[in-house]
Amino acid sequence: MGYNTSSLKLVTNMPLNNLKIINFRNILNTELTLNNEINVVLGSNGQGKTSLLESIFFLINGKSDKTNDLNEIKNINRSNLYVEGIFNHSKQINKCSIFLENGKKKVQINGKKVKSAEELKKLGNVVLFNKNFIDSIEGSNKPRRESFDRIISSYNTKFKNELKELKGFLSRKGHILRTSKDEKLINFIDEKIIELSLVVSKKRANWLKNHVNIINKLSAASSEEYKYSLKYETNCNSKDVIISNLNLAKNKERLSCKPLIGAHKDIFTFINNGKDILKLGSEGEKKTLGIMIKIAEIIISSKILNKDTIFLIDEIMSFLDKKRLKFFLQLLKRSKVQSIITSNEKLILQNFTNCSIFGIKNGVCKKIS
Ligand SMILES: Nc1ncnc2c1ncn2[C@@H]1O[C@H](COP(=O)(O)OP(=O)(O)OP(=O)(O)O)[C@@H](O)[C@H]1O
Ligand SMILES: [Mg+2]
Repeated sequence: MGYNTSSLKLVTNMPLNNLKIINFRNILNTELTLNNEINVVLGSNGQGKTSLLESIFFLINGKSDKTNDLNEIKNINRSNLYVEGIFNHSKQINKCSIFLENGKKKVQINGKKVKSAEELKKLGNVVLFNKNFIDSIEGSNKPRRESFDRIISSYNTKFKNELKELKGFLSRKGHILRTSKDEKLINFIDEKIIELSLVVSKKRANWLKNHVNIINKLSAASSEEYKYSLKYETNCNSKDVIISNLNLAKNKERLSCKPLIGAHKDIFTFINNGKDILKLGSEGEKKTLGIMIKIAEIIISSKILNKDTIFLIDEIMSFLDKKRLKFFLQLLKRSKVQSIITSNEKLILQNFTNCSIFGIKNGVCKKIS
């Protein structure tokens, strides 16, 4: 049994060539020259592997993937932090930097001040694959929905804003249900919830349809025949359905003091051979789906955004067995996407013939070969 990835056509990208990190968590002063394709960072527990990946995420997104409190990412004993990246595009070299002091960010591209994170994102795109992602999709509906919403939001600002607006109205409705229970106000907010839920659910469904198509293409290339069909449950199929559901749930909502109808109750389910993978699948089946979702994300994001993707994979060997690791790395090699992979297990190197290898110890990262 094995996988054949030779028929897959993935994307090629432009890389992050140089990275400078100062005072980012335990990384005090590190400068790296990265390979255009696969980079492996080896280090024991607590040496700074996850922090290194987080700094790249920060450089491109202007925020951390782990926390909203920027003071947390600055080294506790230093007053500021600095991250700089040089992106070598075919006709152009772009230097991007973020300086953080007293919770304030100063972002520059090619020496010019940049006001919004959107500007930064134009330089590239980061796809992050770590245990948190696997945990979130394997967990209950809420973390899974949130995880997918984060992915969709990162490519679709309009969706992000509509979702934010919906959450605002749901929270206002919750407040009224807990306090005055003012019927007129609830009806007004319900109108907004209906309108926004329809939009949010539709966009999620479209995005997932795309995703599943790509996943099915990827799985068709594997001899294990993982064909997924998607079941996407929503109580927001049409305006009439939402209105009727709202009427049916009226008493329940007043008793529980919670809004029960809306796109915040959508459920994502992946079915393989009639089986709900994320509920009933084996560990390996779930992790394979996780891999497929991430690879599909790279393909979709490259298409939508038409820009470079940097794939960050944290502690790959902690959640993939030998067979899946091989499958995943084959896809990765063919994709030519620039990847930075961390591991505390030297054995990972057996899978590569051509990659840059770095070692990280006490926050100091150096090229080994
Ligand atoms: N703001 C900070 N200032 C200084 N050190 C920090 C800060 N935040 C985290 N650290 C420390 O940085 C070290 C490296 O953490 P990191 O999560 O990057 O390690 P890791 O190599 O990924 O380890 P593991 O293999 O256990 O995942 C840890 O000791 C952590 O406590
Ligand atoms: Mg780590």
